Amino acid sequence: MKDIITLGIESSCDETSVAVVKNGREILSNVINSQIKIHEQYGGVVPEIASRNHVEAISEVTKEALKQANITFDDIDHIACTYGPGLVGALLVGVSYAKALSYTLGKPLVATNHIEGHIAANYITHKDLEPPFLCLIISGGHTHLVHIKNYKEFEILGKTRDDAIGEAFDKVARVVGLGYPGGPKIDKLAKEGEANIQLPKTHFENLDFSFSGIKTAIINLHHKNPDVNKADLCASFEKTVTEVLLENTLKAAKELNINKIALAGGVSANSYIREKFLELEKTHNMKIYYPEPILCTDNAAMIACAGYYNFINGKTSDLYLNAIPNLKLGE
Ligand code: KG4
Ligand code: ZN
Repeated sequence: MKDIITLGIESSCDETSVAVVKNGREILSNVINSQIKIHEQYGGVVPEIASRNHVEAISEVTKEALKQANITFDDIDHIACTYGPGLVGALLVGVSYAKALSYTLGKPLVATNHIEGHIAANYITHKDLEPPFLCLIISGGHTHLVHIKNYKEFEILGKTRDDAIGEAFDKVARVVGLGYPGGPKIDKLAKEGEANIQLPKTHFENLDFSFSGIKTAIINLHHKNPDVNKADLCASFEKTVTEVLLENTLKAAKELNINKIALAGGVSANSYIREKFLELEKTHNMKIYYPEPILCTDNAAMIACAGYYNFINGKTSDLYLNAIPNLKLGE
């Protein structure tokens, strides 16, 4: 069978990324131009600045992706771009660029959901992974516990009712003075601390999550006692949120009788969360999957992979495609 080459384009937040992927799961190139350094000085992503930087970077990033893959535009079979969810101005850069390429090259355009991209990152790292499985998507914008029934059918079992878990990591980091992005900084500092501070956990009847309570508790605690040991606070925060993630995931696994669990999204790069989920392989006879760190945070290879499955299932778009900032999983 002829190989299918996907050009993936991602610009939903602060990474301009273009990738070339063969047959959905083999990365030929994955160029990521991160704007973190630019946004760092503002303590978070500034949407207008993100859009402008995407515009400035996207052509060069695309050229570099083709060069590293050692191919030309002619070799591409289709173009997959993120059309939501994300920042509208940022998304529009990738969508418009993909539409222009699709028109001029005469290649099919495949609209791709960013959250489905995060799930698909696991297919690249684990060539043997096939649905059904459970996926815990934990990122800066999302906290979803999802039953992946097949490549195109998803059932959301639980989601956050307020802050996404990555947002909580970033806010806690800001409060204790670690700066942006907070996740990796908390990950590092927590290793030097003891999880000896009692923090609140929120549970619901169903499998939903809430992280605003723990975030507020930490803000108040730090306010009352600015000398509180930061490493202990970070370790306690990580331990508490991980317990909630584990409890809900295990409940879902038991209810659905599924023993394959995949982690996805920026926060799944967290070393403590990975370690605790990996322990389930021994304690609960589960099989745990997570993408390699570079595929956890935003990148275009994961978009190319998800786009490939859309493409082979006949899901292509016309040039009326628009960005949808609040796109839901499965849409
Ligand atoms: O998936 P992502 O790149 O963007 C979204 O789609 O949201 O996730 C970014 C989030 C940020 O909140 C960042 O702080 C968090 O992932 N993150 C981490 C780690 N690395 C990135 N959180 C905890 N531990 C990490 N090692
Ligand atoms: Zn993301």
